[in-house]
Amino acid sequence: MTKHFLDLMDFTNDEVYELIELGRMLKRADKLGACPHLLDGASLGMIFDEPSTRTRISFEVAMTKLGGHALYLRPGEIHLGKSETVKDTALVMSRLLDAIEIRSCADDEIAGLAEHASIPVINGMGTYLHPCQCLCDLMTMSEHLPTGKALSDVTLVFVGDATVYENVGTALSHILPRLGAHFVYCAPEGYVADEAFYAPARRACEEGGGTFEIVHDPKQAVRDADYIYSSVMWYDGFDADREKRMRDFLPDYQINEDLIACAPAHAEFMHYLPAQRGFEMTDAVMDHERSLLWDGAENRLYGEMAILVKLMRGRLPHASAEVKAQQKALIETWIAENL
Ligand code: CP
Repeated sequence: MTKHFLDLMDFTNDEVYELIELGRMLKRADKLGACPHLLDGASLGMIFDEPSTRTRISFEVAMTKLGGHALYLRPGEIHLGKSETVKDTALVMSRLLDAIEIRSCADDEIAGLAEHASIPVINGMGTYLHPCQCLCDLMTMSEHLPTGKALSDVTLVFVGDATVYENVGTALSHILPRLGAHFVYCAPEGYVADEAFYAPARRACEEGGGTFEIVHDPKQAVRDADYIYSSVMWYDGFDADREKRMRDFLPDYQINEDLIACAPAHAEFMHYLPAQRGFEMTDAVMDHERSLLWDGAENRLYGEMAILVKLMRGRLPHASAEVKAQQKALIETWIAENL
């Protein structure tokens, strides 16, 4: 059965650690100018129905560095879901490509592609989850662990909306407790979902021994934080809520110098980006020496490379040098005699 990358929870803890280690190895190799062409000749189709800087660039550059190729496909410029069903697009793409990455505000479109494609489908962000960002954040955290701690015992405090609005928060709230770590949502009153929404996080605690909690006092919440995670205060396209969200989040839920003064001296600051400077996070925190924002953005490349290698490498045909030479000679002879 084709393995997709739709939800990090579809992968065991061991597989998650392997992906992190692979990402770090590829990063080391790339920094030496020695990135191996593990996906030589492979093609990735990238469908984006929403804007993207990091996800788009990282997947395209990842494919190039690994010896493959990526195509940027915009709904409206391809037939997906309009003059062709999701199923038919999946069937055609499966014949022409080696994998598909899709960002869509329709989760059923991502699921539909995965259901019908016989090649790996990667969730490049849906409304519910952002598993690529989540994996890359774990990689960044693994590179910046507090002294004496492992990923399995860190505390991440996510300051912001604790509902489905935050697909990165949702993804992190599932995987961190399953790894044994501690996830804390610090959200304003009114930005908490029904308890059923948190069932996967509660299950993850039982499976992995970590903890999950929702609190409302930011200064208390960050007291034991190893990482303070911030997210956009409002999304473009949701501007109708903007004034209300600003009233509800500011000033208490902004990551600023007053708030980080309440955290341990080693606490580091994260944001999946793009950020609205001066709203959810001040310039001083974004550009702070303990800001992981730019390392996190860079790691999108290496985390994405690990995902692509994990899903695609074993599926590609690998001809021996002898078979390659044989095929080349056959084709060249035919061309010489016929063209
Ligand atoms: N964090 C993230 O997914 O960034 P982009 O929207 O720029 O891809």
